[in-house]
Amino acid sequence: MDKVKIAIIGVGTMGSAHVATIDKLDNCVVSALCDINPDVRKKYANRKDTAIFASADELFAKGDFDAVIVAVPHYFHVPLALQALEHGKHVLTEKPISVHKKLARQLVEAIPKYPDLKVAAMFNQRTLNAHKKIKQLIDTGELGEIRRINWIITTWFRSQYYYDSGDWRASWRGEGGGVLLNQCPHQLDLMQWFFGLPKKVTAFLSLGKYHDIEVEDEVTAYLEYPNGATGVFITTTGEAPGTNRLEICGERGRLVYENGKIGFLRNEIPTTEFRTTSKSQFGSPEKWEINVPYKPDVKQQHMNVIENFANAILKDVPLIAPAQEGIRGLELGNAMLLSGLKHKTVELPIDEEEFAVMLDELVSKSRYVKKAPAEKKDVDAASLAGSF
Ligand SMILES: NC(=O)c1ccc[n+]([C@@H]2O[C@H](COP(=O)([O-])OP(=O)(O)OC[C@H]3O[C@@H](n4cnc5c(N)ncnc54)[C@H](O)[C@@H]3O)[C@@H](O)[C@H]2O)c1
Repeated sequence: MDKVKIAIIGVGTMGSAHVATIDKLDNCVVSALCDINPDVRKKYANRKDTAIFASADELFAKGDFDAVIVAVPHYFHVPLALQALEHGKHVLTEKPISVHKKLARQLVEAIPKYPDLKVAAMFNQRTLNAHKKIKQLIDTGELGEIRRINWIITTWFRSQYYYDSGDWRASWRGEGGGVLLNQCPHQLDLMQWFFGLPKKVTAFLSLGKYHDIEVEDEVTAYLEYPNGATGVFITTTGEAPGTNRLEICGERGRLVYENGKIGFLRNEIPTTEFRTTSKSQFGSPEKWEINVPYKPDVKQQHMNVIENFANAILKDVPLIAPAQEGIRGLELGNAMLLSGLKHKTVELPIDEEEFAVMLDELVSKSRYVKKAPAEKKDVDAASLAGSF
C-alpha cells in the first residue's frame, strides 16, 4: 500500500475541510464519503474515484477503504469508531472522543483488542510549534516544578447563527455540552498533555448566558494538582475580543504565551531556594527576560494529524494523538461540568456513573427538536486555522 484509502463519515463543516485537506496530501486519498444528508451526498456525487454512501452500515458493507475519519456529532464518535474497528478499519476520530467518560471508556477498552489497527484523535493543536515548544520546556524541567497555571481562552466567540447552523448543536440531547465539549477539547487536551490531570476541580459556569442555548457558554474552573500546584481555566463563547493567554509559574520562572509569543522571565535562583535562603526581607530572585523562539508552522494543523495518521498506517510512525489519550481531557471537561452544575468540588477520577446519570437527566429535559438543516458554505481547513 502506498496510499491509505480513507472514508470520511460526516461531511459537514469539518468533514468537508478534511476532504480538501486529503486532496492535498500524497500519502492518502478519499475513497469513500458517507453522510445521512442527501444534499451533502449530491454535492460530492461527481467526485472521481470516491464512492458515496447514505449510512455507515452501507459504507462498512460495501465500501473499499482502509481507514475512516469520524466527523459526525460527538455522541456518534464512539459507536462509529467501534464499528470501524470491528470491520478491521483504522480510525481517526474527531474531538472530543466522546461526550462523557463512561462512553469513551468503551472505545479505550476496545483499542487493545485491535493491536494492528491505528486509532487516533484529531487533537490538531498539539501540532502547533508554540504548543510543542511549551511542552518541551515543561518536560525538560526548564520551567522547574510547576506551581500555578492560568489559562484564559475566550477566543472561541460564536454567534447565535453558528449555534443555529446545526440541529444537534448546543443541546444536551444533540451535543451533550457546550464550550467545554465543542470548542475547548483542544485546550483541555493540552492542559493534560502539559500538566497531567488535577486531583480536584471546582467550577462555576453559566448555561446559555450569552446565547439562546441550553448548554454552558461560560466557565471558570479552579484546579488543584497532586503536587500542590493550582490552576484557573476560564473560557466562554460569548466574549469579544477574546483572550488566549496561558501563564505558567514554575520554580524557574514565569512563562506567558499570548499573541503568538512565548515569553519567559527566568529566575536566576529557583523560587523555593531563594525563599528559604535569602537574607533580604523584600527581595526576589534576579531574573532575565527570554523571548523563546520557535519555528513557524508550515503545514495546516489538521493536515499534520491526517498525514501522521496515514504514515502511522503505512510506516508505523508514532501517532501524534492516540485516541485513548482523549479520555483525559474529556474527564477534565466532565469534571468541570459536574462541579459547576452540582455546585461542589469534584475529585478525579470522576464518578463517571454520577456524570452519566446527570447527563441523562439533562437530556430528558432537553428542548432539542430536529430543525431543517441550515444552508452551509464550503469551508477550507486553512481558513479555520485560527478558529479551531
Ligand atoms: N478538530 C477540529 O478542529 C474540529 C472543528 C470543528 C468540528 N470538529 C468536530 O467535528 C464533528 C462534526 O462537527 P461539524 O462542525 O463538522 O458538524 P456539522 O453539523 O457541520 O457536520 C456533521 C455532518 O455529519 C452528518 N451526520 C450526522 N450524523 C451522521 C451519521 N450517523 N452518519 C453519517 N453522517 C452523519 C451530518 O449530516 C453533517 O453533514 C464534531 O464532533 C466536532 O467537535 C472538530
